[in-house]
Amino acid sequence: MFLGEKGKYRLVQNCVLCGAAPCDTACPEGLAPARQLRSIWFDNEKSAAARLPMPNACADCSAPCETACLKCGEVPIQKAMRFLAEEVKPTLAADMPDSEAALQTDICGIPLENPFLLASSVVGSNYDMCARAFAAGWAGVSFKTICAFPIHEASPRFSAVYSGDGSMAGFKNIEQLSDHSVAENMAIFRQLKKDYPQKFILASIMGRNDAEWTELARQCQENGADALELNFSCPNMMEEGLGSDIGQVPALVERFTAAARRGASIPILAKLTPNVARMSPAAEAALSGGADGLSAINTIKSLMAVDPDTYVSSPDVHGKSAVGGYSGKAVKPIALRFIAELGQNRKLRGMHLSGMGGVENWRDALEFLLLGAGSVQVTTAVMQYGYRIIEDLKAGLNYYLQAKGFRHVSEVVGLALAAVSDTTDALERGSIVYPKFNRKTCIGCGRCEISCLDGGHQAIHLDGQRRPILDAKKCVGCHLCVLVCPTDSIGSSGKRICQA
Ligand SMILES: Cc1cc2nc3c(=O)[nH]c(=O)nc-3n(C[C@H](O)[C@H](O)[C@H](O)COP(=O)(O)O)c2cc1C
Repeated sequence: MFLGEKGKYRLVQNCVLCGAAPCDTACPEGLAPARQLRSIWFDNEKSAAARLPMPNACADCSAPCETACLKCGEVPIQKAMRFLAEEVKPTLAADMPDSEAALQTDICGIPLENPFLLASSVVGSNYDMCARAFAAGWAGVSFKTICAFPIHEASPRFSAVYSGDGSMAGFKNIEQLSDHSVAENMAIFRQLKKDYPQKFILASIMGRNDAEWTELARQCQENGADALELNFSCPNMMEEGLGSDIGQVPALVERFTAAARRGASIPILAKLTPNVARMSPAAEAALSGGADGLSAINTIKSLMAVDPDTYVSSPDVHGKSAVGGYSGKAVKPIALRFIAELGQNRKLRGMHLSGMGGVENWRDALEFLLLGAGSVQVTTAVMQYGYRIIEDLKAGLNYYLQAKGFRHVSEVVGLALAAVSDTTDALERGSIVYPKFNRKTCIGCGRCEISCLDGGHQAIHLDGQRRPILDAKKCVGCHLCVLVCPTDSIGSSGKRICQA
């Protein structure tokens, strides 16, 4: 059974990742198939396979899991379990580590159980939610932004762009800040710190003037926050001169960071907006104002889903909509680009970078770490899948570190920065890497031929067996065919051939 990177997702694409999954209850061997399918969904099949006992108990089972499944017959649960046991497990380079010690890190010297925090938003907006997230394994929370002015949210306030499997590829929100009073939020901090002293509370705040920034900072420190996150980046504020309006003006970033610094001595992270050409001016201004770290990205200004009948974009609030913040999987490349910019900026050396934007699984998180982030925050994936995603975030990263021989997560921070160039003129252009076709796994769909004909350089045609033949004289090595192949049957030859 060859499934490859893309094929493995087909095993789980009909799974709805339901809660209290009937397949788990039905499994006579207690193999928790729902948990294993979730690991495949979140790119974590290696640690799932490492967890599975041998010999493989699924091979001879009558698969009551599939009968019990809410989408009875539509999810090949047994095949997925066999994929883990028979295809993945034999290739494992390491056992699952028996401790999570390698994940321990810190934010500005304050210990963190692992690099994962809830990003400031609805997912961490009251005591009960934070407590459940901590119990699930999150190392901390950037609490929903606290302000001293009243908040009245619109309804509905979210919208989404979907990918083919029904999951949300991008997410838009027009939500503002915490609708609890400052006093209520301070009481939550006190209780959280009392009950979970080892968890990290990052207090996200937003003031309207210097005095408010100072006072909010002071109160958060006094009530148990480990660090502050200054929200210079919410794109959804009603009044001008707040949120991302500040983040776009370095002088204001410096001024309000300094105001917060006057109120507190705990570490300060400035949360910056991606709604700028470059983030460095605001980041350097935050440093001048007294910040110890940076968080990025907040959401990207967006419009989506214009209704063809009502002509109103989504979310439709009583016949009107508004530009709002875009987040989730789709924004990850933009977020990574900004993290790399900050990570490469020598003036910012020593500042903690907390990265976010589109993190759903451990590989997403690893990309942020490799580009210089020391911690990783998540909102949209938690909104979509729940706090339980922390299991695969931690297990996947822990397994990766073990398999690669890293003793500590901090060892991977920034490893990918040296290979990033801000512009393409630094790239070598004298050679070509040709694609390589695997005729055994190719099913002859012709998608490579179609894309090469209409979007490439007319270098591929199918032979009598519907298998691709490459015309090396025409191929420019763009690798569009590699990307569109639905069966992972086209790879890179790995050989760089010099052009005449
Ligand atoms: C519904 C929603 C509410 C948010 N509220 C806040 C907020 O109060 N303060 C803040 O700094 N960021 C807020 N954000 C931005 C997130 O913290 C995060 O920066 C952004 O969503 C990118 O991460 P993600 O792709 O993991 O969601 C919010 C995001 C969403 C989706």
